[in-house]
Amino acid sequence: TKIYVPCDTTALSMGADEVARLIEYHAGQKGVEIEIVRNGSRGLFWLEPLVEIETATGRIGYGPVEPDEVPGLVAAGLFDARSDHPLYLGSVADIPYLKRQQRLTFARIGITDPLSIADYRALGGFEGLGKALAMTPQAIVDEVKTSGLRGRGGAAFPTGIKWQTVYDEPGQQQKYIVCNADEGDSGTFADRLAMECDPYMLIEGMAIAGLAVGATQGFIYLRSEYPVAHSILEEAISRAESEGFLGANIRGSGQAFHLEVRLAAGAYICGEETSLLESLEGKRGLVRAKPPLPAIKGLFGQPTVVNNVLSFAAVPFILDQGGQAYADYGMGKSRGTLAIQLAGNIRQGGLIELAFGVSLKEILEDFGGGTFTGRPMKAVQVGGPLMAYMPHSQWDTPMDYEAFAKLGAGIGHGGVVVFDDTVDMGAQARFAMEFCTVESCGKCTPCRIGSVRGVEVIDRIRAGENPDANLVLLEELCETMVDGSLCAMGGMTPFPVQSVMKHFPEDLTA
Ligand code: NAI
Ligand code: SF4
Repeated sequence: TKIYVPCDTTALSMGADEVARLIEYHAGQKGVEIEIVRNGSRGLFWLEPLVEIETATGRIGYGPVEPDEVPGLVAAGLFDARSDHPLYLGSVADIPYLKRQQRLTFARIGITDPLSIADYRALGGFEGLGKALAMTPQAIVDEVKTSGLRGRGGAAFPTGIKWQTVYDEPGQQQKYIVCNADEGDSGTFADRLAMECDPYMLIEGMAIAGLAVGATQGFIYLRSEYPVAHSILEEAISRAESEGFLGANIRGSGQAFHLEVRLAAGAYICGEETSLLESLEGKRGLVRAKPPLPAIKGLFGQPTVVNNVLSFAAVPFILDQGGQAYADYGMGKSRGTLAIQLAGNIRQGGLIELAFGVSLKEILEDFGGGTFTGRPMKAVQVGGPLMAYMPHSQWDTPMDYEAFAKLGAGIGHGGVVVFDDTVDMGAQARFAMEFCTVESCGKCTPCRIGSVRGVEVIDRIRAGENPDANLVLLEELCETMVDGSLCAMGGMTPFPVQSVMKHFPEDLTA
């Protein structure tokens, strides 16, 4: 019997290694023959560690199985997948949270052993690369354009147009593919899940990008806080090389693509693409002025595709099933699916992949099941620490880039962080400015100095010192930062602050 115990960071932090060891021990004691498979996580985090048993009718789940639950589970018939235990979940594929999703990108996570190329191929892996190898570069770029895929790092720039820009640069020069895996937004973990639970998907997406634009070298710029992702990626790259999916002669095609991981050093700003490139070149992570765009002068001054993990991860499906199959999902100009990461004060946190168009309310209530504390929700921050806090009145908004932008909010990288009614929104506004003082690269004044002044002004308002005049000053400071900052760090820090001023003013002046 195969028993699955996840090996991603979330499950490991809940004791999954010990759970696997204990299950093996008890099987030995009972003389039951089992094979433990370390799969990826399904992304249903409140159930981790989620233990699954293979049966004739599919996989049966138990969760959350913390180490001290194992003896009781074994006694209650774990090895026979018996149902008389409180942690019994029945068929994992039928858990509503999972069943209601539209997993195009995350179709394999939790099902496969992340490092098994055989598992990956059994579920459609490397089919897209196979097709790309037989296509012209322009045809690959066109397929991505047809899909309507927009950059999933947050800015939502059309991926196909970015690739076209790099492809159109003269072909004899060295070009690069760079993956931004410096996932730094609060409440986000989809990049990590993709890398830890289905690493070949990222490798395949980057290799296809290389074929499309004529780049033979790729780098994954990985945040150093992801040691599990790091070791899984290194092993996956080495196995992909030895099986000919990477290297000097991909699957005998004569085409080359090499891939290496580089570790970041913990600076939020190095998730901004130009400071990321500086850091990759071995320099301090200072933002570069644009233009020139990285697509024209990027890494070491060469044409470079810089995309987020999730943008590359969407590409194998697009090449395999066709751009139109991807574009069939979504609404308006937001095509395909969004990896929503539900976090913060929520009962059922985890990964929810759905077509664009689902409302925030459905995510919070139908999937999230209310707050973890059981208290009413007060505010939701979607898209990271630089995005607006959204009050109740905005929760009917569909997840769509344009619909969110109309409200002065943003979807960003898809992180959704929930707060209950005990949150002090004035403190949250202060935190936005304080975060910017810590993470500013220091290159421009509105951000470097403005954020420090922002903390001071908010402190004065909260202390009741001349609040009316100081609120005007804060508004003017926010406008200056939005208009005068060189990059999104200083340019977007005012958004959460302004949203608090607009929707939760009583908290700011209390
Ligand atoms: P941007 O709008 O300046 O650029 C978006 C992308 O399109 C860049 O890669 C840019 O080089 C490219 N681009 C623009 N015009 C192009 C053209 N004509 N041809 C080819 N490429 C072109 O936005 P930026 O500053 O790169 O990103 C800001 C976003 O980052 C924010 O909206 C925020 O949501 C997100 N963000 C994400 C974080 C995360 O952890 N994922 C953290 C912080 C911010
Ligand atoms: Fe650096 Fe801030 Fe200016 Fe961006 S806005 S370039 S992070 S100082």
